[in-house]
Amino acid sequence: MIKETFSPSIRSDVAPFIAMDVLAEAAKLEASGRKIVHMEVGQPSAPAPKSARAAAQEALIHGRLGYTEALGIKPLREALSAHYLKTYGAEVPAERIMVTTGSSAGFNLAFLAAFDPGDRVVLTAPGYPAYRNILKALGLVPVEVEVGADTRWSLTPEHLVQVQKDGPIKGVLVASPANPTGTMMTAEALEELIRYCEDENIWFISDEIYHGLDYGGEQITALNTSRNALIINSFSKYYCMTGWRIGWMVLPEQLVRPTERIAQSLYISPPELSQIAAIAALNSVQELEAVKAGYAANRELLLEGLPRIGLDRLLPVDGAFYIYADISRFSADSLDFAKRMLHEAGVAATPGVDFDPVHGHEFLRFSFAGAHDDMKEALDRLSDFLR
Ligand SMILES: Cc1ncc(COP(=O)(O)O)c(C=O)c1O
Repeated sequence: MIKETFSPSIRSDVAPFIAMDVLAEAAKLEASGRKIVHMEVGQPSAPAPKSARAAAQEALIHGRLGYTEALGIKPLREALSAHYLKTYGAEVPAERIMVTTGSSAGFNLAFLAAFDPGDRVVLTAPGYPAYRNILKALGLVPVEVEVGADTRWSLTPEHLVQVQKDGPIKGVLVASPANPTGTMMTAEALEELIRYCEDENIWFISDEIYHGLDYGGEQITALNTSRNALIINSFSKYYCMTGWRIGWMVLPEQLVRPTERIAQSLYISPPELSQIAAIAALNSVQELEAVKAGYAANRELLLEGLPRIGLDRLLPVDGAFYIYADISRFSADSLDFAKRMLHEAGVAATPGVDFDPVHGHEFLRFSFAGAHDDMKEALDRLSDFLR
């Protein structure tokens, strides 16, 4: 007999990730023979770079593949250190770099190392829903700040001043380029925000997972502004390695050992196979730039094509591979609209309520990480659907 007293914890009551629910529904339709254009999930359709797959193959045949140091293998940490020098001119010792099981594990570790239960951490809305869910599951308090066109969809020190009126803030988490908006902060705006956090003793966490995927803006890392910033990054997006579950963090010196201790018990180590592949991926820039050129072509196609069929209120797509579209002239219920679009047009996209509980019912997020022909097909189908 199931007793009611054996119930799940209160903190496990986090919202589902609707993008994954849309994916599941799309898969059902595909199983019944429908062809669906997938624009709901934020993952590259390209596989990991060839050299990464070759290195993994070699390791599978000849390697032992065991636990590694909790901080990750030295050659990968050193390769990442070299990456910072080459990409940003930033000197980052390998000792401050920690390899993680995707950036998702990085968030768990960073939050545990920097915050105590009940601490308030500021996020943007719209924003990536897992931030909020992980914080809640860890007994922390997400404080979502609605951002809009007036601040180009990013957080400012003025927002933080307002939030501080309701109580102290322990952390601020920002992504640039951001998910779902695709917007990037200017170097000045990012620096100003980081400096404010530094002055106010607020941990600044910079999710740089979409770095490398920018279409003209200046890409800067929070590392260049503060040694106290926590940097979260991943091989999932630019490097096309979502399924390999491999990412990294750059930590302030004082957090390295505490984070290592937590990681030893939570994960033991990141997967060795993926760490070996990741070293090779860092040297596959040519192949990855070709993938990025494909996103750029998709972006252009959609930025030109969506307004023609009535979706003309789009956020600036500075980076990542998302278009966040205002659908309010068609519907005030993005969940229902996305469902109808999936069933009637066979195009899967994610309702904005996943990212923003307040205004998300008027938005849809389209991922353009798929094949160019699929994007064309999506435009044709949406043109009929919206007519
Ligand atoms: C903004 C952002 N951060 C982090 C992640 C998690 O990525 P992973 O755990 O694969 O590194 C995602 C995934 O979509 C994301 O969009």
